[in-house]
Amino acid sequence: MRKMTSAFSPVISVSRKAAKPLHKQIYDAYRSLIVERNLSAGQQIPSTRALAIELKISRIPVLTAYAQLLAEGYFESRVGAGTFVCSSLPDQTTSNDRRTKQAVPVRVAKRTTARRALRLPPYEKVPWLRGLGAFSVSQPAYDQFPFQIWSRLVMRHCRNPRASDLHYGGPMGLGPLREAICNYLRIARAVHCDLEQVMIVAGSQQALEISARVLLDAGDPAWVEEPGYWLTRHVLTLAGCLPVPVPVDDEGLDVTAGIKRYRKARAVFVAPSHQYPIGATMSASRRLQLLHWAEHLGGWIVEDDYDSEYRYGSMPIASLQGLDDNSRVIYMGTFSKTLFPSLRLGYVVIPRDLVSRFAAIRQTMDIGSPYLYQAVLTDFMNEGHFARHIRRMRLLYNQRRMALVDSLRNEFGSAVEVHGSEAGMHCLVTFNGDFTDTEIAQHAARERLWLTPLSPSYLGKATRQGFVLGFSSTPAAEMPSAVQHLKNVLTSHGSIRNKKETLARAI
Ligand SMILES: Cc1ncc(COP(=O)(O)O)c(C=O)c1O
Repeated sequence: MRKMTSAFSPVISVSRKAAKPLHKQIYDAYRSLIVERNLSAGQQIPSTRALAIELKISRIPVLTAYAQLLAEGYFESRVGAGTFVCSSLPDQTTSNDRRTKQAVPVRVAKRTTARRALRLPPYEKVPWLRGLGAFSVSQPAYDQFPFQIWSRLVMRHCRNPRASDLHYGGPMGLGPLREAICNYLRIARAVHCDLEQVMIVAGSQQALEISARVLLDAGDPAWVEEPGYWLTRHVLTLAGCLPVPVPVDDEGLDVTAGIKRYRKARAVFVAPSHQYPIGATMSASRRLQLLHWAEHLGGWIVEDDYDSEYRYGSMPIASLQGLDDNSRVIYMGTFSKTLFPSLRLGYVVIPRDLVSRFAAIRQTMDIGSPYLYQAVLTDFMNEGHFARHIRRMRLLYNQRRMALVDSLRNEFGSAVEVHGSEAGMHCLVTFNGDFTDTEIAQHAARERLWLTPLSPSYLGKATRQGFVLGFSSTPAAEMPSAVQHLKNVLTSHGSIRNKKETLARAI
């Protein structure tokens, strides 16, 4: 039994005026907390002294109640450790009883929620978003992360924090981190910025959310890439905007098609360095066309530069923001790909005249980012570990990407098409044949293979089916067997559903 050491006082109220004696009130309260499983086996109970102080009564009734609970086996005491809910307590009530009790809806009034909350589909735990292992998208090589250095920096900042480190920070984030990011973006991404324009956010997701709140009103049309990043679409849908799907090809977003579809859109959300999921890099002529459109029609460009650090065939492509002379681009990036996603740290470079609007909205959302990891990341960047880690990962991921492409060609030959530029941490594959990618992805997940289906990336009807395959977490030497596993899964699914699925026959 896992030992649970926290001894929060449970909510118990006693009354001196009640007919029931105090010790009985305490006994009954604990007994029902245990029977109803609000206190679980092994959980620590506050000491008699602490509970007596909390309830503002003498210790005697508490001692009496505890003695009774110990005698009846609800509590057990461990020498030198304290009093705990008995770890071998038999099931007094089934967990179903409790679930039923909690699930009974309140019938007195309608349970009305905001219409806004109903704009998004209910949260669904799709396996490919959480699975760890072969082909999982957005999974850096965690075993290669310099945790020794990272934990040393964490300790440095944990040990003797100053009062100012523990107090509220500002909505823009920690100054030295903003400066380090600003220097990095100027050099590595050709972004035009100074410190005042950089805001630290909880990943690109928060940057998208704040941008939508600052730039768009309900009903405003905004171009999104088709297919594109589904969470960008959700941000716009939640804001009550009108996402306008604009097709993407090998040159990135088709600006002419966007203009034809909705010339006066208020904004466009794009990933020009490495489009998700197709993997295209936006051509120079499309970039200039987009900037021209924004300048002349007063549109905003939200540039999601989520994995631009990783380019293998050529030098990194400069940001779109760096080409912009009219401050129409909101530029965002993330540490989810370069470090790890649970860090929830990213940044947004804001046009000067919008900085205070972004700051006001950010403050209202969550006040600002936690101090500790901002401070750790500042040192990680300033001491050169960040640049070193990216350089190492660029070599490693390039090998892994090549191993994936070679293995796909070996296993599937001409039946597979690999899309996208030599960049990032994933590539898109499509196959000849008629199949339903979500169905196959569900089937593959049962085999612990994490294929992200292409079709949910479409806002409209999916015109293609395929899979986004992450390659960054699988060592090159293991790639051939991972791809063989992929082939087995695809063929076995096809043979299960042979009538409809022709994929198995095609490969
Ligand atoms: C297109 C795109 N943008 C941004 C992100 C990163 O989001 P975040 O910084 O919120 O982790 C991802 C992650 O997969 C992505 O695919």
